[in-house]
Amino acid sequence: MNWKNNKVLVTGGASFIGSHLTEQLIELGAKVRIADNFSSGEKSHVKSLDCEILEGDLLNPGFCNQVTDGIETVFHLAADHGGRGYIDAHQVECSTNMILDGQVFRHAHQNGVEKIIFASSGCVYPTSAQMDISKEVFLHEDMVTPPYEADDLYGWAKLMAELTLKAYHQQLGISTASCRYFTVYGPRCTENHAVMAMIARGYLKLDPFEVWGNGEQIRNWTYVDDIVSGTIATAEKIHDGTSINLGTMERIKVKDCANQVIDTLNPRATVKLLTDKPTGPLNRVASNALAKELLDWEPKTFFQVGLQKTIQWYIDSKTTEQASADLTRKLVGR
Ligand SMILES: NC(=O)c1ccc[n+]([C@@H]2O[C@H](COP(=O)([O-])OP(=O)(O)OC[C@H]3O[C@@H](n4cnc5c(N)ncnc54)[C@H](O)[C@@H]3O)[C@@H](O)[C@H]2O)c1
Repeated sequence: MNWKNNKVLVTGGASFIGSHLTEQLIELGAKVRIADNFSSGEKSHVKSLDCEILEGDLLNPGFCNQVTDGIETVFHLAADHGGRGYIDAHQVECSTNMILDGQVFRHAHQNGVEKIIFASSGCVYPTSAQMDISKEVFLHEDMVTPPYEADDLYGWAKLMAELTLKAYHQQLGISTASCRYFTVYGPRCTENHAVMAMIARGYLKLDPFEVWGNGEQIRNWTYVDDIVSGTIATAEKIHDGTSINLGTMERIKVKDCANQVIDTLNPRATVKLLTDKPTGPLNRVASNALAKELLDWEPKTFFQVGLQKTIQWYIDSKTTEQASADLTRKLVGR
C-alpha cells in the first residue's frame, strides 16, 4: 500500500498512541487529519506535526460527518478510556464508546471512506480465561466467540465495535480491521497505566513504593513503536474485518516490573502491596501467532529495553513538581 498523499483521519490523534501513529503516517507521506476533543489527548503531542487538527466531540454527529468528509482511510482511536482504576469506576463513561464508535463508522461509510482500522483491546477476551496465574495462557483470537465475556463495559464496547466492523465488511464491502492492543506503554503514556504509575513513584522517590494487587499479576506490556508498526501493517494487509492481537508474548509480573523500576530510580524503597486496589484479570498475555502469519509482524522491543527508554523519557520531560502535581487523581483519572 502506498501511503503517499493518502488522506487519513486519526480519531483521538492527540492521544498517547494516536500521536505516535500520526507521526509515523506523516513520515510515510500520508496527509493526516486528526479529530480530537482533547479530553485526554494533549495539544502538545501534535502541535508541531504537519497535519490538520480538528477539535470537537465525536459524539456529535455533525462533527463526525465533517471529519470523515474527503477521507480515504480512518484509524479510529478516540475513546473514553483510562487505566484500570478509571475503567472499573467509570462504566457509564466507557459505555458511550458504543455511540462514538457506531457514529464514526456510519459517517465514514456515508462519506465513502475506503478503509477503517479500529483500536481494539485485550479487554475483549473472556476474563475467566485470565484468572489462573499458574497457567501459561496466551490469548488467541478465536477465543473471542459466543458466549462472549468481555472485560467491563469498556471491553464490551470494543467487542461491539469489532463485530460492527465485521458486519460493515460483510454487508457493505468496506475494508475494515481491528487491532487488539495489549497494555501499551512508552513515551507520552500517562500515570493511569500501571507502568507509568510505577515510574512516577520511583522518580518521586516515594517510600514505601505502592503496588496495586499482590504483584503476581501477569501482563505483556507492549512498546508503543511496535503497536504503531503493527497498526500500519494491519491497515496494509487486512481488509475483511479480521481482529488481530498486537502484543508481545513476554510474560511480566507486576512485582518484577516494580523491582526493575525501583532498581533504576530508588533502590532503597520498600514495596507496599495494596491488595484492595483493582487489578483487572490476573494473567493477560497475547499470542501473536496470527499477527506473524498475516502481517509478518512481531514486536521488536523487549520489555527491559522499552522500560528504560520510557523511564528516561519521563525523567527528561517532567520536573518532580510536574510529576507529583495531582498524582493521586492522575492514577485513577484520564
Ligand atoms: N493504552 C493502552 O494500553 C491501550 C490498550 C488497548 C486499547 N487502547 C486503545 O487505544 C486508543 C488510544 O488510547 P491511548 O492509551 O493512546 O490514549 P487515550 O485513551 O487517552 O486516547 C483517547 C483519545 O480520544 C480522544 N477522545 C475521547 N473521547 C473523544 C470524543 N468524544 N471526541 C473526540 N475525541 C475524543 C481523547 O482526547 C484522546 O486523545 C483508545 O481507543 C484505547 O481504548 C489503548
